Amino acid sequence: MNSKSWMLIFAVLVLALSPETMAAAPKKAVDVPFGRNYVPTWALDHIKYFNGGSEIQLNLDNYTGTGFQSKGSYLFGHFSMKIKLVPGDSAGTVTAFYLSSQNSEHDEIDFEFLGNRTGQPYILQTNVFTGGKDDREQRIYLWFDPTKDYHSYSVLWNLYSITFFVDDVPIRVFKNCKDLNVKFPFDQPMKIYSSLWNADDWATRGGLEKTNWQKAPFVAAYKSFHIDGCEASVEAKFCDTQGKRWWDQKEFQDLDAQQYRRLKWVRSKYTIYNYCTDRKRYPTMSPECKRDRDV
Ligand SMILES: *[C@@H]1O[C@H](CO)[C@@H](O)[C@H](O)[C@H]1NC(C)=O
Ligand SMILES: *[C@@H]1O[C@H](CO)[C@@H](O)[C@H](O)[C@H]1NC(C)=O
Repeated sequence: MNSKSWMLIFAVLVLALSPETMAAAPKKAVDVPFGRNYVPTWALDHIKYFNGGSEIQLNLDNYTGTGFQSKGSYLFGHFSMKIKLVPGDSAGTVTAFYLSSQNSEHDEIDFEFLGNRTGQPYILQTNVFTGGKDDREQRIYLWFDPTKDYHSYSVLWNLYSITFFVDDVPIRVFKNCKDLNVKFPFDQPMKIYSSLWNADDWATRGGLEKTNWQKAPFVAAYKSFHIDGCEASVEAKFCDTQGKRWWDQKEFQDLDAQQYRRLKWVRSKYTIYNYCTDRKRYPTMSPECKRDRDV
């Protein structure tokens, strides 16, 4: 066969495969430098910049950790960054990536990575606060070593749900359960935050493992700072970008079959803790857990 017919076959294959494979993964993240959307929050000298600011490293030592936050506040959207977590002996350190509103009845969407002794697995803890209520922890192990390479961590927040992704794999879905009287974040813009700090009073095996300061500085590396959200301007609390809100379109309102399969896989193989099944701590199951069970 000549190259033209190969190309034809290839094109037909791509067309045949695309409806399934392209179903509902969030839009491809666009890499932008750190400084475009983010600023350091504290301990500015503990953040190091590389490649013209397209990569950064947070440093934690026995003096301080550090962190950064988005300049803007956002109401719905898709937010991601690539992180390479603290390698080696990281027990006691916590690296966090989260969205949070600023007031007291606050909304928050959390990724927290709990470090461990060399060779022992990290824990990824997620949580969702709505209207000031939290106590919605879930904990998983990852299916790879998050200190070896960069991996993408992202949040898709729309009117229907909040979905946590690790690379392209959905690891948690918090559905909008307004009908069950569960508050859902819809009117308070959130900023995006990340930080690296010492939490050896609770993080590793409930605080049993202490941070080994001989190994300091602890370094977490970041790149690919992607934000595609509805930005709330200073004047307007509710942003108005009709037509821009691709995240509310049909294909993002629910996971597709393949995504549910992946979520189930994470559930069955990597879950350590789920507040929805913790009858000891929560004798009465939170209403949204009914939907969590459907997963
Ligand atoms: C922090 O660590 C350095 C180097 O190991 C040490 O010299 C210093 O005393 C430590 N400081 C504190 C406050 O523990
Ligand atoms: C650390 O490793 C221990 C032993 O494998 C494990 O029980 C624990 O869940 C791991 N993670 C954390 C954050 O403690």
